[in-house]
Amino acid sequence: KLEAVIFDLDGVITDTAEYHYQAWKQLADEIGVPFDREFNEQLKGIGRLESLELILSRGELQLTEAEKIALADRKNENYKQLIESISPDDLLPGILTLLKQLRENGVKIGLASASKNAPAVLEKLGITQYFDAIADASKIKKGKPDPEIFLTAADLLGVPYRNCIGIEDAEAGIAAIKEAQMTAVGVGNRETLKHADWIVDTTVELTFERLVEIKG
Ligand code: BG6
Ligand code: MG
Repeated sequence: KLEAVIFDLDGVITDTAEYHYQAWKQLADEIGVPFDREFNEQLKGIGRLESLELILSRGELQLTEAEKIALADRKNENYKQLIESISPDDLLPGILTLLKQLRENGVKIGLASASKNAPAVLEKLGITQYFDAIADASKIKKGKPDPEIFLTAADLLGVPYRNCIGIEDAEAGIAAIKEAQMTAVGVGNRETLKHADWIVDTTVELTFERLVEIKG
């Protein structure tokens, strides 16, 4: 039974996954580490400092904690500039309709984004009011692929895990949803998201009817 849908944000609700990519690319170029879209797939859904660690180890760079924090801050400044002009027009196709239909049908809506910028992005998109629960990324101890953030969102919603659908664009995110015993829907890359229960190419395909159907 479908009782709740728990959304990832970046790359599912809006195309901020592209801005995270651009912000990391800018930083990687500055510190001379090769960075491309294929490598970026590994960073999707992964926290800020953890992502930086992956970039540093790719470049075989060893830095102090203070230097790491400075670089992570620099990336976040790049990112904040990129998201400055986000508006409701930046919702991916079909998402607003889906949020409305879920509400109308009494299906709860949660957010499980690793991003500390998530509340600000929801505000800019004008959709904060649709969410019954938003897991606080700053309080999560283990990032995706650990299921903690999805379990936390479901607990806040008061819905059994098996009655939740999670929607993700990241390999680590799909792993987290599956580990949480929820139904996993992947948006995007069919190879990296192959462990999802259902994969769509674009958000247009995420209709309420289909979600009810896959939950049975
Ligand atoms: C995830 C993104 O949603 O949030 C990652 O997929 C990002 O790319 C992570 O690193 C953390 O985001 P932030 O905004 O707190 O740096
Ligand atoms: Mg994402």
